[in-house]
Amino acid sequence: MPNVRRLLEFLSAMTRLVESGPADEARLLDGAAPLMKALVAHDDWLPEFSARASTERYQQHLLYGDPLDRFSLVSFVWGPGQKTPIHDHTVWGIIGMLRGSECAQRYARDGDGRLAPSGLETTLLPGDIDKVSPTIGDIHVVRNALPDRVSISIHLYGGNIGRIVRHSFDPATGEARNFVSGYSDSPLPNPWTGTR
Ligand code: FE2
Repeated sequence: MPNVRRLLEFLSAMTRLVESGPADEARLLDGAAPLMKALVAHDDWLPEFSARASTERYQQHLLYGDPLDRFSLVSFVWGPGQKTPIHDHTVWGIIGMLRGSECAQRYARDGDGRLAPSGLETTLLPGDIDKVSPTIGDIHVVRNALPDRVSISIHLYGGNIGRIVRHSFDPATGEARNFVSGYSDSPLPNPWTGTR
């Protein structure tokens, strides 16, 4: 039986945080980081249906969407070898590693406007967190670090991430393309792609 109390305590604390002051990115990142740290300190609360992997592609299971779209919480389930395209978020985000391991490579525009890797690839282990945002760096590629096992990270975003129009980038040209990720288990079709 999953320890759902941990998830409920996180959601209560996040709701209090967004209600306690302005929707200021730095304030929310600072306030939410210790909450995410506490959430992924134990791997005993994620419901089984939010831990399902697919051989087709990595899964984005919606755990909670704030009714006023102030934040959303998603479980990312990586099958062996699965990775994202180069993408951004356009809102602040905190990633907490729950199970297994994932690698992230940040990208930044060079002088010619092309996208180039920025810094070294980083690896998250269970309990680790990472942050993204338009202010502190928003473009990256994320992949499962494990070649033979499922990995799961918990993602918190400053909006309804599955419904936000954001961007993927051509690795050769840096050209941006709009996309809306949707959620893997949404009952509603993704209006941009016609898929669920
Ligand atoms: Fe991302």
